[in-house]
Amino acid sequence: MPKDVWDPLADHYDEWHSYMAGADLVGAVSAAVADAVPPGLVVELGCGTGIYTRGIARRCERVLALDASAAMVEKARAELAHLEHVEIRQSDAYATGLPDGFADGVVAVNLLHIVPDPEGVLREMRRLVRPGGAVVIADATVTGLSFARVLESVGRTLRRPEGLKTWRKGQHDISQTTLERLVSEAGFEDMVGREIDGRLMNSSFVRAVAPVAAPSIET
Ligand SMILES: C[S@@+](CC[C@H](N)C(=O)[O-])C[C@H]1O[C@@H](n2cnc3c(N)ncnc32)[C@H](O)[C@@H]1O
Repeated sequence: MPKDVWDPLADHYDEWHSYMAGADLVGAVSAAVADAVPPGLVVELGCGTGIYTRGIARRCERVLALDASAAMVEKARAELAHLEHVEIRQSDAYATGLPDGFADGVVAVNLLHIVPDPEGVLREMRRLVRPGGAVVIADATVTGLSFARVLESVGRTLRRPEGLKTWRKGQHDISQTTLERLVSEAGFEDMVGREIDGRLMNSSFVRAVAPVAAPSIET
């Protein structure tokens, strides 16, 4: 499990996430993710306080939401305690310990751009999703922002609430192009992707399917 830099952020995370990403983008990404998940068992990696888990839970029979941070897990459990089909566990996104092909869908929102090894997380997503199941990935990005919006974003960063860190070591911007390349290199197919534009930031967004092995033909 990585050393936890996220624990101290849990109490203010929802407020700070909306402050930096914009409430409009949070709403648009939440709706896009919920629309894209398959209906069965969905695993969410790096669920944080559960902002996006709520929407996923409206669409799925069962959600297993995982996060490395004990404080985030505690917060998410409190927020989503009323949803009996949602379970929150502390777990590392690189090595969940769940069986191969465990899930109909695997989701990661705002995780790939903050982990040092996004390819490693994608390998675990590929392992977890059953053949024919889907991965749904979204990551806030500054790529594609107009100059005016970059200026507004810089202004908000300068005026940010005390304690809010906007950039941490190992973080990298994941543009739509980068996300599509990573997902394709991880072995997924039938990719549908689009950048979701917000007032302050954009989000990369992809849904893709784990291939079903072609049946062998006996001769
Ligand atoms: C930027 S937050 C995103 C939270 C949530 N998905 C959202 O978009 O609001 C990143 C989350 O990933 C978690 N995280 C970071 N590294 C992780 C890892 N290796 N395994 C599981 N969770 C991790 C952090 O604890 C944090 O809650």
